[in-house]
Amino acid sequence: MQLVIVQDYEELSLRAARMVARQILLKPHTVLALPTGDTPTGMYQALVQFYQQGFVDFSQVITFNLDEYLDLPPNHPQSFASYMQKHFWGKVNLRPENIHIPSSQVNDPGRECARYEMLIRKAGGIDLAVLGIGKNGHIAFNEPGTSWNSLTHVAELSSETRECEAAAFGGLERVPKRAITMGIKTIMQARAILLLASGAEKAEILAQALHGSVSIHVPASILQLHPNLTVMVDKAAARFLHSV
Ligand code: GLP
Repeated sequence: MQLVIVQDYEELSLRAARMVARQILLKPHTVLALPTGDTPTGMYQALVQFYQQGFVDFSQVITFNLDEYLDLPPNHPQSFASYMQKHFWGKVNLRPENIHIPSSQVNDPGRECARYEMLIRKAGGIDLAVLGIGKNGHIAFNEPGTSWNSLTHVAELSSETRECEAAAFGGLERVPKRAITMGIKTIMQARAILLLASGAEKAEILAQALHGSVSIHVPASILQLHPNLTVMVDKAAARFLHSV
């Protein structure tokens, strides 16, 4: 594991964007797995700037989002598709046919999961997966207890995760109860992983995930076993970390 501790959120965003940009320079038809949430917005902003300045070209890049809520219209302001459109897809030269996100409205979610997993395989697998971490240690929407062998699947969201989103949705009862998420195995199969964390509220879970025992109760702890993991954190989130 490579641990990079930076001063603040701004530097975290810039360093993360540089790592993604370098990956694309080295392999223009890179396959990326991409996160949502507050943590990566600065990274997307920096990537958009790199694109506008002509430093990076997304025309051959293939993207797969890590997850999406179920039972939500795709144009719902809180859908991950809306988030991506606002922060990234709508601002760079990704080809629409190269952008993938699980469908949020499907009659047969199981079939959608299998289709998504198959699309990742067809694209040649993920080169770089960028991840955030939930307060309970989840990665994508793999909540505590998720099997290490999981592929893309329907996840029941924990009450803790739903409570975190309650304000954004205007009430807990409006937060979806399910999502489609890449599984732990799908993520672990990525050739490289970049885990991002910012802020004091992530400090404790991050230390558990990186220094604690590998346990399904802290899904991000499995990342300790990945052969090519970079962890980028700001000082606040790194408070309980020791060098590795
Ligand atoms: C959601 C997403 C995760 C993300 C997590 C943390 O649950 N499914 O992929 O890592 O939130 O989000 P934030 O960066 O806002 O703390």
